[in-house]
Amino acid sequence: MKTKGKALSNIKDFKLKIEEYKEAFKNASVKVKDEKSLQELRNLYLSRKKGYLRVLFDELKTLKPTDRPKAGQLINGLKNYIQKRLQSLEKRIKVPKRLIREIDLTLPGRNRYWGAPHPVLLFQEEIERIFLAMGFSIEDGPEIETDYYNFEALNFPPHHPARDDWDTLYITDDLLLRTHTSPVQIRVMEKQKPPIRVINPGKVFRKEAPDPTHLPMFFQLEGLVVDKDITFAHLKGTLEFFLRTLFLEKINIRFRPAFFPFTEPSAEVDIECTVCGGKNRECRVCGGEGWIEILGSGMVDPQVLKNVNIDPEQYSGFAFGLGIDRTALFAYEIQDMRYFYENDLRFIRQFAQK
Ligand code: DAH
Repeated sequence: MKTKGKALSNIKDFKLKIEEYKEAFKNASVKVKDEKSLQELRNLYLSRKKGYLRVLFDELKTLKPTDRPKAGQLINGLKNYIQKRLQSLEKRIKVPKRLIREIDLTLPGRNRYWGAPHPVLLFQEEIERIFLAMGFSIEDGPEIETDYYNFEALNFPPHHPARDDWDTLYITDDLLLRTHTSPVQIRVMEKQKPPIRVINPGKVFRKEAPDPTHLPMFFQLEGLVVDKDITFAHLKGTLEFFLRTLFLEKINIRFRPAFFPFTEPSAEVDIECTVCGGKNRECRVCGGEGWIEILGSGMVDPQVLKNVNIDPEQYSGFAFGLGIDRTALFAYEIQDMRYFYENDLRFIRQFAQK
């Protein structure tokens, strides 16, 4: 510093000198790396006895008394600048004392709960894997449907009594919450020509009071296969393979004749009770029946194929619909479907995959 040490009596030179100090401080502060060099820099500038600022204050005497207030202000400005800069350097360098005190490396780590997939979803994925392995693909459809897709295209004429089996929640005369996943069959066949091999899992809704085996919202999984020469044997083989993979290789399965407007012939499929195997008259799961109904199925009605412009003379198909929550109930041997939706973590966590 050229001017350092020289006694001055000119405010202009004094100002210049302050700027030189500031510049020199800036350059030195860049090099501060640790607490020790920080302390050295602080002493150099701010030490009460010999710090540069002390020297500058002493030099005030050499100025004209009228210049002194202005010069004092300049020194204070420099002092503020230096103090602020030292403070921020200190923050960057010093390990906060609080941290040193709080870290106890001998304590066990904190466990975080990240949540887990819902058991019904896990079960759905298990089902999906089986069908994906058989060459099916997954399709999606809207939960709010029109009367046409939910009923009419599926061969339920208006006012037909079969509609009463589906306790429908209507939004308007034409819009409703879908009562089953079957409308996705129509949507798929409208945009895709055979060969078709799809499944569609999703939520469905019915006007029902919750009880151990009924809920106003539940999950279904629809399946549809359309191609040349598809027969009931394909339906049976596919569903038997699926159920034996999902449950046990040796589980007993039975097909019972049933009626659905969109399939002909139709069948409901039962599995032997997973809890009592038919041996307990008072079984709480099968009600002593020994059999549990888990899906509806059938050969796609020719009228349904016509509704989507697929020629029933050339093509045939089968379809099925399975209640996901309902089947999970039997697979996990749970007695009340409502448990799935009560958000009781003690229940839900039992299904989390490790
Ligand atoms: N949609 C029917 C229901 O909700 C289930 C069903 C039956 C689906 C037969 C089908 C089928 O695809 O072929 O009860």
